[in-house]
Amino acid sequence: MKRIGILTAGGDTPALNATIYGAVERANALRIEVLGIIRGFAGVIDARLPHVRLNPLFSTIPELDPCRGGSLLGASRTYIDPSQTELIAEITPRLKQLGIEGLICVGGDGTINGMQPLSELFPCVLAPKTIDNDLGLNYIDEPNEWHREDTPMGGLDSTRRAVGRETIELDEIVNFATPGYATAVFVVAQGVERIRSTAESHRRIAIIEVMGRDSGFIPLGSSYGQPDIILIPEVPIDMDRLEHRIAELYDLQKHVVIVIGEGVCDGSGRQLGAATKSFDPAGNVIFSGAADDLKHLLALRFGDEFFDSRRKHESAESVIFTRKVGHTQRGGRPIQFDRFYAAQLGGKAVDMLVDGQNNHLATLQWSRTDGFYLDSLAANKLRDLWKRIHPRRVHPSLYDAQRFQPSRLGKEYLMTIFTNAIGNDDVEELRLQTFAPGKLSTRYQSVNIDIQRRIEILK
Ligand code: F6P
Repeated sequence: MKRIGILTAGGDTPALNATIYGAVERANALRIEVLGIIRGFAGVIDARLPHVRLNPLFSTIPELDPCRGGSLLGASRTYIDPSQTELIAEITPRLKQLGIEGLICVGGDGTINGMQPLSELFPCVLAPKTIDNDLGLNYIDEPNEWHREDTPMGGLDSTRRAVGRETIELDEIVNFATPGYATAVFVVAQGVERIRSTAESHRRIAIIEVMGRDSGFIPLGSSYGQPDIILIPEVPIDMDRLEHRIAELYDLQKHVVIVIGEGVCDGSGRQLGAATKSFDPAGNVIFSGAADDLKHLLALRFGDEFFDSRRKHESAESVIFTRKVGHTQRGGRPIQFDRFYAAQLGGKAVDMLVDGQNNHLATLQWSRTDGFYLDSLAANKLRDLWKRIHPRRVHPSLYDAQRFQPSRLGKEYLMTIFTNAIGNDDVEELRLQTFAPGKLSTRYQSVNIDIQRRIEILK
């Protein structure tokens, strides 16, 4: 192989540049040219195919900094729809015209679904990323547990069987952790600790909403910030038990910190905060306020009397407050775990193309005897019987729904990822850069400006 392409699709993460960097460094060693395609699948669909040479003369361009969050190539939530056969057929000749012999898509479950139709015409592999940590499987035969049901909107959809496996072994997990997840948890854990001191001083109940869509890995990881209660989307809220636990904690410590995943449902299966469904360009429901919805439900249950009887002149409205960690958990410098494994997975993706693999993804595996190692998997193995790839959800054995905390196995899972996730250089960077005097006299230098100067288009 002489020349390959790479693109970053879907929501960005702190580790995208690290993945691209790993791919380019590996390509340098193999003397393969790498063209970076601008703005994910939107760039591939564009007849001008905007691109950047990432390693002229097999030397990585200086703008590609693995320590910088986001993607120097830009990302977009534009995906390829399998029904657009004419559009898909136009992509291959364009890639070939540029001399591209294989494509690395850096992305999550949306990207791998979008990559399917293209891989039927052109060699494509996926290097995983997503802060949601939902690309993968709890065990290899998990996709076979989906079955089809009528949906309330009409039509059929794949719905999970009520009963799956009761427990898992950690070394069965396919794609143990995705680059971006560790940094997101790092940010969330710090956020929880910071909000705690305000809740504690003002005797308040804090509800902190974190990302992750329908998967609860980020809330699970938030346990490093020691919230009192963690609510994950996989387990519908039992309001009676939650109310009881909050009252118990409030009486004991005079404040409560709750972390809620944005996709959490109530007992009837209604997604909190999704009363009016709106969708992003990729067709995902936009989550708009699980924390606010929960606040409303709790205020109704407790009423002002509960708080007034404990702290005079305090209403439910003033005691319960909500905060979203929001996009801070998706941005900024990646911590060492993400940088290291993102770069490894990027390099692995290059090797996979060279080895002739198509429609495969690079995976990060873990075994009790060997620790972390790289592998690859056919994308087909992630598909259910109707070809759909579902986001991985937190397995019931990782979460203790009685205590609203990670289970023993859940803690073991987290320790495997996080115990050595922060490097000395992460700490040193914080010390040197946070209040660097130079920041006061120089404007932020956007990589977009430098990349703009390097973009070429198909003639
Ligand atoms: O999939 C990653 C993610 O950060 C989700 O956790 C979140 O729901 C979504 O993206 C937010 O997307 P956007 O940045 O497009 O609002």
